[in-house]
Amino acid sequence: MSFAADHFERIIEEQLARIRRMKAEGDFVDYSALDPLVIGICGGDGIGPAITAQGRRVLEHLLADRVAAGRVRFENIDGLTIEHRAETGKAIPDDVMEQLKACHVILKGPTTTPKAGDPWPNLESANVAMRRELDLFANVRPVRVPEEGIDWTFFRENTEGEYVLGSRGIEIPGILSMDFKVTTLSGTRRIARAAYEFARKNGKTEMALVTKANIMKKTDGMFSRIAHEVAADYPGIEAEDWYIDIMTANLVNPALRSRFQVFLLPNLYGDIITDEAAQIQGGVGTAGSANIGDRYAMFEAIHGSAPRKIEAGEGDYANPASILKATEMMLRHIAMPEKAERLQAAMRICTETEHRVTVTGHRDGATCEAFTDYLLETMRSL
Ligand code: IPM
Ligand code: MG
Repeated sequence: MSFAADHFERIIEEQLARIRRMKAEGDFVDYSALDPLVIGICGGDGIGPAITAQGRRVLEHLLADRVAAGRVRFENIDGLTIEHRAETGKAIPDDVMEQLKACHVILKGPTTTPKAGDPWPNLESANVAMRRELDLFANVRPVRVPEEGIDWTFFRENTEGEYVLGSRGIEIPGILSMDFKVTTLSGTRRIARAAYEFARKNGKTEMALVTKANIMKKTDGMFSRIAHEVAADYPGIEAEDWYIDIMTANLVNPALRSRFQVFLLPNLYGDIITDEAAQIQGGVGTAGSANIGDRYAMFEAIHGSAPRKIEAGEGDYANPASILKATEMMLRHIAMPEKAERLQAAMRICTETEHRVTVTGHRDGATCEAFTDYLLETMRSL
């Protein structure tokens, strides 16, 4: 058994070192002070490059004057494909990591996550690796259904929980398997602060703390306790504990769901419940996701890379809605809320009120490029 004891000791030491690094980190970046601001466009693979190119077109349009003045620069990062990852044997190849770190913010398309039995080596997810390497600790996912009074913002802890040691459990093959889940004081405090700061700035008064602290007594117990401690600094915002199981039911309970405003939750619960929430909004294809850290921020579509669509020759017909939502979130993050609002208003016209061009995801609909032509034309007329 000493292999297990050694492994356990090593991962505890690593986590303590990670805590020390977290403590050493500084304040958030002031984007308005960056000159030039470098925006990385990382297409990923599958349908990623096609839809991400549309996000870039929208940014080029909205930021045209800044690009012309040399105050914004785009960097294309092409190497985050499953082929290049398989070839280098890395979740994120070194050359790609270097390019990512040379950007301030990144717009990222989906990337293929291999699993056992796939033709690819069973590499770690590029998303998870990027969140860890760039320390993108806050995963922020808004979901809105105005006609039902739904205006939710999820703050999912993005670097800890079940994900931090995801592929490093212990196994006695065929007999026993153990995975690890990690919660830390610094890691919980920073996501809780991000959620409460958001709530305060946006006039929100309710915070739902979602855990399973009755079962995961150590990790979720600590998450809830620290979240309450942070709450003490934010009078006027009420923190209420919920268990994840009943919260998944509440989200489909029309009598209750519109009262929720901000959700604060550990990594895996946040992963699961944000897909449910996105489905309530109209599908995972309609939701965007922001991954925010002290130094970097990455904005992504929340759906997968849809390799089957590429096999069917329908990659260009993929729906760009999710990456365009991520583009809008990036604009807000880099302190350009009025540009984000123009994009949001145009999206509403193009997908709801006027809706002259329809993307179905298949050949019977418009291509993502044709939809974006329509969107750009609409934005020009606003
Ligand atoms: C998400 C995704 C990822 C996750 C996958 C692709 C690794 O489901 O961003 O929600 O589990 O976090
Ligand atoms: Mg998910």
